[in-house]
Amino acid sequence: MDLGPFTDSPGFDEAAQLDTDDALAGFRDRYVITDADLVYLDGNSLGRLPSRATQIVDEVTINQWGERLIRSWNEGWWTLHLEIGDQLAPILGALPGEAIVSDSTSVNLYKLANAALGARPGRKKIVTDDLNFPTDVYVLDGLAESHGADLVVVESDGVTGPIDGLRSAIDDDTALVSLSHTVFKSGYTYDLATVTEIAHDAGALVLWDCSHSVGVVPIDFDSAGIDLAVGCTYKYLNGGPGSPAWLYVRSNLQDKLTNPITAWWGHAEPFEFGLDYEPVGGIRRFHTGTMPILSLAPIAAGVQDVLDAGMDQIRAKSEAMSEYMIRQVDTHLKPLGFELASPRDVGQRGSHVSISHEMAWPITRALVERAQVIPDFRTPDNIRFGIAPLYNTFTEVHTAVQRTKRVVESGAHTRYLDAEATVT
Ligand SMILES: Cc1ncc(COP(=O)(O)O)c(C=O)c1O
Repeated sequence: MDLGPFTDSPGFDEAAQLDTDDALAGFRDRYVITDADLVYLDGNSLGRLPSRATQIVDEVTINQWGERLIRSWNEGWWTLHLEIGDQLAPILGALPGEAIVSDSTSVNLYKLANAALGARPGRKKIVTDDLNFPTDVYVLDGLAESHGADLVVVESDGVTGPIDGLRSAIDDDTALVSLSHTVFKSGYTYDLATVTEIAHDAGALVLWDCSHSVGVVPIDFDSAGIDLAVGCTYKYLNGGPGSPAWLYVRSNLQDKLTNPITAWWGHAEPFEFGLDYEPVGGIRRFHTGTMPILSLAPIAAGVQDVLDAGMDQIRAKSEAMSEYMIRQVDTHLKPLGFELASPRDVGQRGSHVSISHEMAWPITRALVERAQVIPDFRTPDNIRFGIAPLYNTFTEVHTAVQRTKRVVESGAHTRYLDAEATVT
């Protein structure tokens, strides 16, 4: 298959010019990129490896684990989850002491949703929408069942957040509203303040999953009055496969909420080894057990890249790239049966662009196996292109669209009609 660079096809010159003018172009060199031909547009599932992360892993394994052994707990490991939380705070629009890195996003969601239900006794409703990530819905559903509450899943049109439906569903029986900030399939992005205000007007708490927005969509928790939030670090923060997640609790709520996993890292005096649980004050009470230091430490590299680039610049490039991609999709892919499955309004979009096609699954396989393009597939008919402004280029976007066009025109995807894969 012809892998390009397709310099004669419409849009190439524009992409090349945008790359020349790109204020963040230098950041690509901070990442380990071994295959120049590969167009990696899956940073919304697993971000690329920051070079600095490899140095951190060497330091943590060879020097800290290898030489300093258990002494390393007192030489930085014990407080690392707090330090990286504080490093992340400006990206969340949070204050120091309002975020920590701890457990997975699913576990953090469970902890904070449970804590919220405990803080609204007597209220019997949790509200979410059908755009939310399935793990969130499973966790909320399980919690509703164990609390004798109802989970209301507000229906959407599959792309756009159902604001009116949420407004009708949220009432004075609602304990918690929990949604994804940027939704995983269409990329629709809620206005945090609007929904938070609807929830607060009804006396409910609000818990946001910012896995698909953190590091790529500006967030300002404190000014939007957010109560609670969670998010992955392995997507646009480039923390590495399975890197632990962050959680945020507004400072004046922290001591009013209870972590349902009453474990020793959330204890006021863990090394007294007393048998009665006494929660520590502040954000540390939402932590549970021993941190996976080898997965935690490298997160600092990706977070620092975001801080160095600045959220305004990252968002500006992300918007320009997704707008460019949608123009290219309209020109080259629409005639081949593709439809845009993300909001057209850039103000409602995160940093991924989804397109739908009845053959989306075999086309995705052909892109990965034959065309050196890695997007991802979301059932039943979505191909998601994750745009990571720190390392993706406009010419990569151009190339991805052209290779997709050639896959379909050549029928290369028809070989993959029965393709199987576990991770899609
Ligand atoms: C929006 C969202 N929430 C939660 C998760 C699950 O995170 P974890 O498996 O780390 O618990 C994901 C995973 O991709 C996600 O996209």
